[in-house]
Amino acid sequence: MKEAGYSVAVYPGDGTGPEVVREGEKVLEALAEGAAAPWHLTDFPGGGQYYLKTGREWEPEAEAAAKDADAILLGAVGWPGATLPNGDLAGRALVLGLREGLDLYANVRPCKLYPGVRHQISGVYTQVWSPKDVDMVIVRENTEDLYTPVRGRLTRAHETEVAIDTRVVTRKGSERVVRFAFELACARGRGAPQDGKRRVTCVDKSNVLEGCRFFRETFDRVGAEFPDVERDYAYVDAFTQWLVRNPERYDVVVATNMMGDIITDLAAVLQGGMGFASGGNVGADHAMFEPVHGSAPKHAGKNQVNPFATFLAVEQMLRWLGERHHDPRLVRQADRLERAVARVLADGSARTYDQGGSVSTSAAGDRVAEAIRTEGR
Ligand code: IPM
Ligand code: MN
Repeated sequence: MKEAGYSVAVYPGDGTGPEVVREGEKVLEALAEGAAAPWHLTDFPGGGQYYLKTGREWEPEAEAAAKDADAILLGAVGWPGATLPNGDLAGRALVLGLREGLDLYANVRPCKLYPGVRHQISGVYTQVWSPKDVDMVIVRENTEDLYTPVRGRLTRAHETEVAIDTRVVTRKGSERVVRFAFELACARGRGAPQDGKRRVTCVDKSNVLEGCRFFRETFDRVGAEFPDVERDYAYVDAFTQWLVRNPERYDVVVATNMMGDIITDLAAVLQGGMGFASGGNVGADHAMFEPVHGSAPKHAGKNQVNPFATFLAVEQMLRWLGERHHDPRLVRQADRLERAVARVLADGSARTYDQGGSVSTSAAGDRVAEAIRTEGR
């Protein structure tokens, strides 16, 4: 247990990032009420808009804080026209840079449909899947694969002739993320909604790609250490259908970085859309938590986006901190926050536009803060 409390470095970032992070901070305040908060938050500016203003993605003290903090909370980065001289996204340092720099090797994306939330298949708010059918976690490798910064262009006479991205799949990178996925299946314990079986599904393209064959070999070798967890396999193309047709089959899913990036956005549709998709970027010594929806420029400044992904990111953060430091206070706060979120979603009193409602971002935050304060009353 830490005396001074856990330090959380907060990077609200671009666009709607600051709007949802503000609500995340609001629910943290509500959780702490009446007692000294076991955490302290410090906000730092940074991202694409900051880059347009200052020529820097963030300040040296913001970067140093990320390394020193017990946990990191990120809003979103990316802004139209904010590009680094080399063509990269301005704000990259805060997301891809921290994933690389702090070695946040597992990108953990829960996909759970809460009662009262409508999934977004075909863009209409129908309740085809019942919440009990959608409860999985996708674990995406977060440091290598096509994201490895080994890429470039061959330019001759100022004209690009070839552009190359290198796909790197390593033993270390695969082993640790696969182990993470199997350990998570054990810790969750409840198994897949369909049959209660603990299952890890390896999503890859090992019928074609060498890196995927290697990833699957590693999956088999590491998975053999977990006899209570079923090993399951899916080629990524087929997986996209099965995920939508039969989500109740999935418990934990593991994939390489690029495929994981794609399938997690697809999975978000099953949980009500990107407005509910949170992600933890977890390493051995550091972790960063974020809503996955991005800066959503067209909604920025309108106080209308869905802040629930941020609440769920905060919940993931508290749980990770609590488990890592063996501090039951934080785990209890995470449980309290999840109960408040579930209660507000179930009563439908905080539906933002993406759920067919008209509740604002800040009013949705007020509702969850109130549900925390009045719990049990
Ligand atoms: C995500 C995002 C990022 C990624 C972008 C913002 C670089 O899409 O976290 O899924 O590609 O990983
Ligand atoms: Mn993505």
